[in-house]
Amino acid sequence: MIAPPHLPCAAPFLTFEGVDGSGKSTQLERLAAKLRAAGAGVEATREPGGTALGEAIRALVVGEAGGQLAPEAELALMCASRAQSVRERIRPALERGAWVLCDRFHDATEAYQGGGRGFDRAAIRALHAMLCGDLQPHLTLILDLDPALSLDRAHRRAPATRFERESAAFFARVAAAYREIAAREPQRCLLVPAGGAEDEVAARIEQAVRARVGWPG
Ligand code: TMP
Repeated sequence: MIAPPHLPCAAPFLTFEGVDGSGKSTQLERLAAKLRAAGAGVEATREPGGTALGEAIRALVVGEAGGQLAPEAELALMCASRAQSVRERIRPALERGAWVLCDRFHDATEAYQGGGRGFDRAAIRALHAMLCGDLQPHLTLILDLDPALSLDRAHRRAPATRFERESAAFFARVAAAYREIAAREPQRCLLVPAGGAEDEVAARIEQAVRARVGWPG
């Protein structure tokens, strides 16, 4: 369901990506507030999470309970959370005409479990096709920030999660994978420099949304 670029969509599906601490969750909330103020119905969700099953999975894979989690199980759980969310929340919301804003989606699995952990990236894309009907966002905003800076931000915000304790080399591979995805799919993805002030990043994002998928009203 990739929309032609630069054409308004009735029910746009937008995803936010980036390394931990890149500011994507804040930017998602800011965009959701602007869209609601402009009269749009907005369904904001996150991954892993977004459903009862997904939130239970999140506690396992992001929280401490996942300490002994095998990398293969981690990959499967990320995909399970997404499959449930696509069926239970995302597709129904798109069908009723809501804007869907998702904090991470399938690119995160390619970047973290593919780039970071080293699983085959084409196989991860094939899993998405099988489990989620290959649902593709109309626009993916990849917040791009030096991983050292973004992790520093993340650490100042809250105690480090299981992922945030990974090595600098792990996050360099994650950031590189995100850049490769953006270069491979320029019609869907936009790399947004995320080092500036929050307002500047928000303005860039609004401009990109207006240009690529339109604006409510
Ligand atoms: P966040 O929602 O605060 O960004 O935290 C989610 C964490 O889970 C983050 O460290 C990235 C990781 N993650 C994966 O490793 N693979 C995935 O497919 C998703 C959705 C998240």
